[in-house]
Amino acid sequence: MSIDALGSTDEEILGRPAVDDLEAILTTANTDVDEVLHTVADNAESIFTWDYEKGARPGLDKLYEKAKHSQWNGSTDLDWSLDVDTQQFAEAMADMQSMQFEAGGVDFTGTPFEKWERPEWVELAHQTQQWSLSQFMHGEQGALICTAKIVETVPWIDAKYYAATQVMDEARHVEVFARYLDTKLDGHYPINTHLRMLLDDIIADSRWDMTYLGMQIMVEGLALAAFGMALQTTPDPLLKQLLRYVMSDEARHVAFGVLSLQEYYAGLTDAEMLERQEFAYEAAVRMRDRFLQQEVWDRMGVDVRKAVKLFDVPAEVKNQDPFQQLLFSKIVPNCKKLGLLDANDGWLRKRFDVLGVTQFEDWVDTGEEYLAMDAVSQDRLAAAEAASGSDAA
Ligand SMILES: [Fe+2]
Ligand SMILES: [Fe+2]
Repeated sequence: MSIDALGSTDEEILGRPAVDDLEAILTTANTDVDEVLHTVADNAESIFTWDYEKGARPGLDKLYEKAKHSQWNGSTDLDWSLDVDTQQFAEAMADMQSMQFEAGGVDFTGTPFEKWERPEWVELAHQTQQWSLSQFMHGEQGALICTAKIVETVPWIDAKYYAATQVMDEARHVEVFARYLDTKLDGHYPINTHLRMLLDDIIADSRWDMTYLGMQIMVEGLALAAFGMALQTTPDPLLKQLLRYVMSDEARHVAFGVLSLQEYYAGLTDAEMLERQEFAYEAAVRMRDRFLQQEVWDRMGVDVRKAVKLFDVPAEVKNQDPFQQLLFSKIVPNCKKLGLLDANDGWLRKRFDVLGVTQFEDWVDTGEEYLAMDAVSQDRLAAAEAASGSDAA
């Protein structure tokens, strides 16, 4: 069976003839960089439920109770007085980059990087970090809006309760990323066009489960992995604190998606599942496309086409970059758990094979991981134990 025999084509799903069409990816750059407000019709009906039985869905009820205990305050629980040494981080990243180039035997002759000295590489690391954190912030606002929509559209009371706690979580996330960018770095990058297209598609879909699939499973699944990698690499104590606490919430959010959709997807037909598979595929490709970080190259004055040829050509790389692959390490097992990977003769599995990410299918899914990742409760417990220890002494 050919890969496109069933369902929509790449052209229909992605708006370009081939998934790895670099020119098509790059020509969809964001041209509205000065826009302040952006409007999307959400096409949904708000649903009241008169069934108030709390705990009818025990997994969601448990998550809601956990969320109420694990709220934190972005203004007071993070130590904003800490100085952030962005130079140290950028230099370390520039060193790592040059080691990778050396190991790979990269030749810069005839490329825009031929005349680059260390200051340019350090500046690239600065810009890349600022760009990444800016996209995290924009994604957080997408989560804020999507979850507010879920409060309105999901038919189950336990899910409405839980989603309401997530709305508060996401407000806090937008707040702390914006504060970090504004007060510790040099401000924001505009939203990446591929991320914006994805958020628009998620919000515009009228079906309540598509909001969950796009946001809780795909965007937040990727965010959870990306935050984990950023937590490992940043030397900055404030950013580490921030990411630990945000991840503690995000693990619950992804669990919310898995727990809710598991029940709903069990009752869908093959044709309905295919629509979800196509949506998951579109989301995966949009998220991959944004990692070309074309806005950074524009700001560095480098022709984006030449830069990505050296760094990251999708057609050739096929996500052989292990860091980029790892970003999908939460998404793929969750898609498998939901039946999305293998429904319709493995439609999504074949696409994930092309994207080079199927190898994560048996990694742990995120249904229960939030219990181990609850940094907020762990810190409170440790503080209480330290206090009772000093009382006893
Ligand atoms: Fe978030
Ligand atoms: Fe979230």
